[in-house]
Amino acid sequence: MKILSETALTYDDVLLVPQYSEVDSRRALSTKSCLTKKIALQVPIVSANMDVVTESEMAITMAREGGIGMIHRFMTIAEQARQIGRVKKAESFIVDKPLTMTDAHTVGDVKRVVDETGTGGILILDSNEKLIGIVSTRDLLFEEDEDKSVTEIMSRNVHSAAPDTSLKEAERLLHEFRVEKLPLVDKDGKVAGLVTLKDIMKITQFPKATKDARGRLSVGAAVGVRDMEMRRVESALEAGADCIVVDIAHGDSHLEIEMIKNIHSHFPGAQIIGGNVATADGTKRLIDVGADAVKVGVGPGSICITRNVAGSGVPQLTAVIECATAAKPYGIPIIADGGIRQPGDLVKAIAAGAQTVMIGSMLAGTDESPGMIMTRRGHRYKASRGMASLEANINRNKREGNDLTHEEIEDYVAEGVEAAVPYRGKAREVLNQLVGGLQSGMSYSGAHSLEELQEKAIFMRMTGAGLKESGPHDVEVIG
Ligand code: XMP
Repeated sequence: MKILSETALTYDDVLLVPQYSEVDSRRALSTKSCLTKKIALQVPIVSANMDVVTESEMAITMAREGGIGMIHRFMTIAEQARQIGRVKKAESFIVDKPLTMTDAHTVGDVKRVVDETGTGGILILDSNEKLIGIVSTRDLLFEEDEDKSVTEIMSRNVHSAAPDTSLKEAERLLHEFRVEKLPLVDKDGKVAGLVTLKDIMKITQFPKATKDARGRLSVGAAVGVRDMEMRRVESALEAGADCIVVDIAHGDSHLEIEMIKNIHSHFPGAQIIGGNVATADGTKRLIDVGADAVKVGVGPGSICITRNVAGSGVPQLTAVIECATAAKPYGIPIIADGGIRQPGDLVKAIAAGAQTVMIGSMLAGTDESPGMIMTRRGHRYKASRGMASLEANINRNKREGNDLTHEEIEDYVAEGVEAAVPYRGKAREVLNQLVGGLQSGMSYSGAHSLEELQEKAIFMRMTGAGLKESGPHDVEVIG
């Protein structure tokens, strides 16, 4: 037995000491960071891989706002792939499989397809599948002869581009040709995609969005550590997942290490997030087997009772400082996972060395999380629950076709609770508050970037009285 003499700290134990600042505009400060060495984020926030937090809707919003979402694993492999697919399709500037018809079709055929699908422009191919024309809604507008061949009304002068055209180049060509649709055509004249002005305009609405190399929103997928989970990894990567979270509560374990090794050997290019750990040694062990980021947090989460049940964990600020210090020489980013209740906690987590934070319950209360809004005593709530809670375990088994027996339920040792969290409206509003707080915190530390915040940060411990003074006090809060 060994007793460590150092006191471990968490967010409420400290404050950042204000420092001389030359920041003029907080809102202009960059919050750029990285999830892994290869995945950059404009907003250092990740939505948790919990079934009450991240499915496609949350992941789409997270990526549009500059963060990223991790689709949870408590669903079938096929369903998880569908969820990833939805994120990938949400904002691609390239339609992979545009609607095509052939020169054998009539005006009537095209009108019917346009009515059924709502598609504005149909590409027309010849019998060798080569692009020969395009029919727009305008071409169909006053055309009454439905038996006429489509070749009589289509525009033959189609401007096209190569399949690997970048977003910038596509924008330039759409402008130069004054067209709304730009088919992508390979060297054999076959259609390989379509760029539309409408999709490009949607993209510019979200300038911070996290995107992959093909311009699609980025998303992560969680997997377990059982052998059969390698199929989940394969399916998630095939569906376009940008990273894989190897999700177990005690990540400093041989199960986690074997899974990371396995993923590496079968999918060498995959970005792997390992965790959760709470010590420097645990962090190094995951980095040694190839983790591209390490998730830190044993027991700080709002719905966690691991520390009560297992008596195990490390208060989160100390865990982040120790793990980040261990990861720094390797250049591997740390994700501070759990326990973020307000923007100030995010500032402290980043100042302590994390590159990003993972958030569960704060986002579980938003419109984009799965689940319904409940009303209780005039207040609106949404459900949150630990992934190791009894309720989550019963549901998980039900989904897999096992109805737990009375004994199995009694024997289950839960490490999470079920809870209700206040309804918070749109996830974008929560993210705005968090980012605004982070920028404020940077300004108080005189930092222009998150790296500078980490360099300059001076934490000061405070007493319970200091904590009390830090919140509203001696007033009745009415708003
Ligand atoms: P917050 O505080 O953001 O924390 O709600 C989210 C994180 O909590 C972890 N998590 C759990 N931890 N028992 C635990 O000990 C659980 O049942 C549980 N469910 C989630 C997880 O790391 C998540 O990201």
